[in-house]
Amino acid sequence: MKDSPILIQGAMSVETAELIGALANAKEEPFGPWRCVRGELFGHPVVIQETQWGMANAAALAALAIERYQPSAILSQGTAGAHDASLHVYDIVLGVQTVNESAWQSHYRPAGAGAPYDDLKQLGVFAWDAEKNAFTQEVYHAADEKLLAAARRAIPTYERGKIVEGTIGTCDSWNCAVDRVNFLRQFYGSLCEEMEGDAVAQIAKSFGVPFLAVRIISNSILKNQDPWDLGTGPACQRFVMNVLKEYWSAT
Ligand code: 5AD
Repeated sequence: MKDSPILIQGAMSVETAELIGALANAKEEPFGPWRCVRGELFGHPVVIQETQWGMANAAALAALAIERYQPSAILSQGTAGAHDASLHVYDIVLGVQTVNESAWQSHYRPAGAGAPYDDLKQLGVFAWDAEKNAFTQEVYHAADEKLLAAARRAIPTYERGKIVEGTIGTCDSWNCAVDRVNFLRQFYGSLCEEMEGDAVAQIAKSFGVPFLAVRIISNSILKNQDPWDLGTGPACQRFVMNVLKEYWSAT
């Protein structure tokens, strides 16, 4: 639909201010205490939501925005921590897929046998699968191909670091133990971790809305790049604007 907006979420003001500042005809349309701004970017309608941290916030706001705006696509973007040692602060990950890294079941162990973080099997989450006409348990949510293609075309515009493609892991956790980060890298294949993407992907999938997650590395425990560099927030948004430019130029 030509006139339906693209929804872009970021958790913090440092992850949304650049986008909001670039809007023409900006209108504040909050959801309760959450900031939501509608406007136009390069002449196209967009809605920017500042979700605050976490999966429940981002998913609830995505569902509310779907109801209010019927967005034609949803982009979850912002900062992330590296799971892969080759990633540096300011590198960007295009989420070919996302995964909920809190959706697991531990293997049985009797009292006193401990609860090792790596003795798990993947569980997945239930999203509506329109083809199967059922809620199905899925571990990974794939990005929309058109959004991903636009992001790929925008890669040459980015000069602050490299851009890679892969799996983005989501969980309401911040992992600072190197062994656990290495485990998650291997167990889920995730290149980085954040707290919103897959929760939104699940809702987007359920309502049939095309989705893409784009994340910029703001910290890497594998390189002792902690605390995070919040200068990455605006850099990610500028890249996302170029992704949208590419997306609209093709549609
Ligand atoms: N682990 C988890 N979330 C992170 N974020 C940035 N770095 C990390 C990390 N290492 C993102 C989350 C959340 C906020 C803490 O920033 O998505 O919104």
